[in-house]
Amino acid sequence: MDDTESLAALHKAIDCGVNFIDTADVYGTGRSERLIAQLKRERKEQIVVATKAGRRLSPHTADGYNAANITGFIEDSRRNLSTGCLDLVQLHCPPTDVYYQPEMFDALDRLVKAGRIRYYGVSVERVEEALKAIEYPNVQSVQIIFNCFRQRPAELFFEQAKKKKVGILARVPLASGLLSGRLKRDSQFAADDHRQFNRRGEQFDVGETFSGVDYETGLAAVEEIRKLVPEGLTVAQFALRWILMFDAVTCAIPGGKRPAQVEENCAASAMEPLPDSAMEGVRRIYEAKIRGQVHQRW
Ligand SMILES: NC(=O)c1ccc[n+]([C@@H]2O[C@H](COP(=O)([O-])OP(=O)(O)OC[C@H]3O[C@@H](n4cnc5c(N)ncnc54)[C@H](OP(=O)(O)O)[C@@H]3O)[C@@H](O)[C@H]2O)c1
Repeated sequence: MDDTESLAALHKAIDCGVNFIDTADVYGTGRSERLIAQLKRERKEQIVVATKAGRRLSPHTADGYNAANITGFIEDSRRNLSTGCLDLVQLHCPPTDVYYQPEMFDALDRLVKAGRIRYYGVSVERVEEALKAIEYPNVQSVQIIFNCFRQRPAELFFEQAKKKKVGILARVPLASGLLSGRLKRDSQFAADDHRQFNRRGEQFDVGETFSGVDYETGLAAVEEIRKLVPEGLTVAQFALRWILMFDAVTCAIPGGKRPAQVEENCAASAMEPLPDSAMEGVRRIYEAKIRGQVHQRW
């Protein structure tokens, strides 16, 4: 990515009314956080930034999630984001065992008390981890993959999160671009794009790439979804509006790379609710084509 274009995309988001940005310390090893700090210097609007900690651990093990390591990562994020107090820090898809380490959550409580972070939450791979995480009373948010191809969170988890007033950030809302309807069978991805190097989960959880759906299956399902899209919406806007139909969702966080993508994505939030027939249609397509590949895995 080119910083000038990324910064232009960020400015476009603020122009469109976005006031919340998700990042992580590992995105470009601090480069993403530093760009957001630059954006904040250049804009007067209030911008809430969620970052993440934990993925700098190498090896990435449950033991590494301890007060000393996480405090160190948070210090670096404070520096990168040029702020005394981080708005929201999320544990970055830690191994499942971390949710059974109350000491980690105690340490985060101490960081809140010390004024280093305002709130904390988690980013999870699986619904079971989300359900365990919200047993900790000060977990304020759960980031989870939720989109037309990943519907399981809407079953039990959304209801529980609502009861506990925990915010939900729907990540990978476009299934890594598949749900934009613009990817083709012969689309090429650069060697450093996870859609090239992580298709079979070679580097991290395969569920992060195309939501864990086989590429050809995903393309076929998108063609079915395309038939449900009301006039005036793009497929990407339809996919984003579908997410916002679930009132447990606080925010969808599409990865807009360019100003035009950001503008298109932001427009989805002002669009009319989708008709029941479209919601039923997406459900039907999920059941018939996608469920078998993902439902019990995440
Ligand atoms: N473990 C974690 O906590 C974790 C993991 C993954 C993501 N995230 C967060 O979730 C966010 C979203 O995830 P993501 O970027 O992987 O997935 P995504 O939002 O589902 O897909 C983003 C990709 O779709 C394409 N795109 C975006 N808007 C589009 C539009 N309007 N039309 C056509 N294509 C469009 C872009 O790629 P091209 O233009 O190149 O096709 C972009 O890279 C990330 O930015 C990050 O903040 C967190």
